[in-house]
Amino acid sequence: KANLKNTLLEMNKLAARYFYSQLKGKNGEHAYRYLTDRGLTDTTITQFGLGYSNKYSDDLYKFLREKGYSDDLIRQAGLINTDEKHGIYDKFWNRVMFPIMDANNRVIGFGGRVMGDGKPKYLNSPETLIFDKSRNLYGLHRARTSRKPYFLICEGYMDVISLHQAGFTNAVASLGTALTAGHASLIKRYVSEVYLTYDSDEAGTKAALRAVPILKEAGISAKVIRMDPYKDPDEFIKNLGAEAFEQRIGKARNGFMFSLEILERQYDMHTPEGKTEFYYEAAKRLAQFEEEIERNNYIDAVAEAYHIGYDSLRKLVAKAAVQSG
Ligand code: UTP
Ligand code: MN
Ligand code: MN
Ligand code: MN
Ligand code: MN
Repeated sequence: KANLKNTLLEMNKLAARYFYSQLKGKNGEHAYRYLTDRGLTDTTITQFGLGYSNKYSDDLYKFLREKGYSDDLIRQAGLINTDEKHGIYDKFWNRVMFPIMDANNRVIGFGGRVMGDGKPKYLNSPETLIFDKSRNLYGLHRARTSRKPYFLICEGYMDVISLHQAGFTNAVASLGTALTAGHASLIKRYVSEVYLTYDSDEAGTKAALRAVPILKEAGISAKVIRMDPYKDPDEFIKNLGAEAFEQRIGKARNGFMFSLEILERQYDMHTPEGKTEFYYEAAKRLAQFEEEIERNNYIDAVAEAYHIGYDSLRKLVAKAAVQSG
C-alpha cells in the first residue's frame, strides 16, 4: 500500500510537470494569457506550478502509458475516465490546471478551471488513496513557512494565489468543500488563530458561520473579514490592492460577534418582541461558553454592542444555562 501511494504520487508529479510544460509551450499560449490577464505573474505561475491540460483528449494518458503505468494505476490516480462510447480519455481537457500539494510539497491532486463560462467552472481530482479533500488545504505547502501567527482561510484557488502574490503568504483554502474538523486539526498544527476571508455572497457568509464553531472546537480562534463591495479576496486585491486588504484584516470581526450580527437580521429589532427574542437567543449562545472569564467578556461585549444592561444580560445568560442543563 505504501508502494501504491508512492506510485500515485509519482504519476501526479509527472502529470503536473506535463501540464506545466504544456502551459509554457505553443499549445498553451491561450491558457498562459488567461492567467496573466487575471493578473498572475510568471513567478507566481511557476511558484504554484500552474499548468494547462490541452485540447488532445488522451495525450496525458498516452504519456503515462509510455512511462510504464497501467490503465488501472492511471485510473487510481484520478487522471483518466472511461466510458463505453469514448473508451479511455484524460479527465482534464482544455483547462488551466492548479496542482494541489500536501504540506510536504507532494502533488496529491488537481483542480482545473475552464477558461470562460463552461461548466463545471472547476473540475477537481476525485478522492484517491493520496487525496483526501477534508484533510488537505490548498496553499498549505507555502503558508506553513509564512511567519505570521495566523492563517487567512479563503474559498478558492485564485484567492489563495492572488493573496500570496500580494504578500499574504499565509493564505490557504479548503478544496471546494466546507471546512471540516479534519481541516481544523491540520491548521492547529501550525497556528491557533485564523481569519476567515470567504466570498461576500450568502454561501460565503454561511460557510463562515459554520466554520467558526468547528475551529473553536479545535482550539482555534476565528475572526471574519468582509470583502464587500467585492466578491472575493482575488477581486478585492485586484481592485483595491494589498494595503486595503491589510486594513480589512485590522477591522476583522470576532467570529462570535459576527455570528450575532448575522443572527440579528432574523429579528425585527424595531419591536420589543423582536428584540427580546434576539436577546434570548444571544443569551443561549453566550451560555455555551464554558469558561467563566470568557463568558463574562463576551457578555460585556454583547451588552455594549447591543445596548443591553450588563446585569440583565448576565441574568438572562444564567437562566439560559440552567435551561440547557
Ligand atoms: P467560486 O465559485 O467562488 O470560484 O468557488 P472562484 O474561486 O472565485 O473562481 P474564479 O475566481 O471564478 O476563477 C470557490 C471554490 O470552490 C471550488 C473551487 O475550489 C473554487 O476555487 N469550486 C467552485 C469547485 O470545486 N467547482 C466549481 O465548479 C466551482
Ligand atoms: Mn489532453
Ligand atoms: Mn463562491
Ligand atoms: Mn469566489
Ligand atoms: Mn474568484
